[in-house]
Amino acid sequence: MPRRPDDHPVEITTVAARPDLAGADVDAGPWPEFMRHNRVSEAYFWQTLETFPTTCLVATTADGKVVGDAHAVQLSARPELPTGGWEQAVVWAFADARRGIKPDVACALNISVARDFQGQGLAGRLLAALRDAAADLGFDCLDAPVRPTSKHVEPQTPMTAYAHRVREDGLPFDPWLRTHVRAGGELAGVAPASWVIVGSLAEWRRWTGLPFDRSGSVEVPGALVPVRCDVEGDCATYVEPNVWVRHRL
Ligand SMILES: CC(C)(COP(=O)(O)OP(=O)(O)OC[C@H]1O[C@@H](n2cnc3c(N)ncnc32)[C@H](O)[C@@H]1OP(=O)(O)O)[C@@H](O)C(=O)NCCC(=O)NCCS
Repeated sequence: MPRRPDDHPVEITTVAARPDLAGADVDAGPWPEFMRHNRVSEAYFWQTLETFPTTCLVATTADGKVVGDAHAVQLSARPELPTGGWEQAVVWAFADARRGIKPDVACALNISVARDFQGQGLAGRLLAALRDAAADLGFDCLDAPVRPTSKHVEPQTPMTAYAHRVREDGLPFDPWLRTHVRAGGELAGVAPASWVIVGSLAEWRRWTGLPFDRSGSVEVPGALVPVRCDVEGDCATYVEPNVWVRHRL
């Protein structure tokens, strides 16, 4: 039976305030295996808590169980939101930090909610808390390269058309985009090459259980767009588009 929010009141704090909770595991359910092989994420994601603890959050129950988290990097604003989405924002943020360049925007990388606590609005609360954390630092914006949670159901639909599809009440059709817009975000364009995964055909077969034996487009469960298979080159490439959402603070 789903828990009711008042069964387990949840507190949200920054990792800067609760360093003891940094890195606690949140069981939000499995990601498709291929999604674990992004090289930019492998290089940088684990460093986010240590480098940007004031914009990383944990949600805990009264008995100290971590049931959600959110990670955002900090960087200096560029003239445009990058077409390279998630990956470009991460690379810029760590390069800025290394060079001592003062950040003035935050960029959300992920929000996870433990399976037992999903569907109760906790993600919306984490998003609101991320906005507050960025505002507390004096930032003008929290940007997010959003991975729409239901796009995988229709991989052939162009992301721009999908992102702008709305319900009768005018809110986005996609639940995760809807949560961002409800929290005060505005759609700010598509990042066509936000999250790239390249591997040999043997790797893709292992990750997906699919044959990858013909060149062309392959629909992979959990992918937002088809994967491009190149038999002659013995590699396949997934270029995931995400949707830029800008939260003005
Ligand atoms: C996506 C995620 C963060 C949502 O967390 P949550 O606390 O359950 O979300 P909320 O309760 O705030 O609900 C947000 C919206 O999504 C909808 N929703 C929640 N779970 C859903 C599901 N499994 N399928 C479809 N819609 C869902 C809700 O109905 C709500 O929309 P509505 O209120 O307009 O109907 C959570 O499911 C999760 O951690 N997933 C795995 C990680 C992930 O995909 N993160 C997002 C990309 S980084």
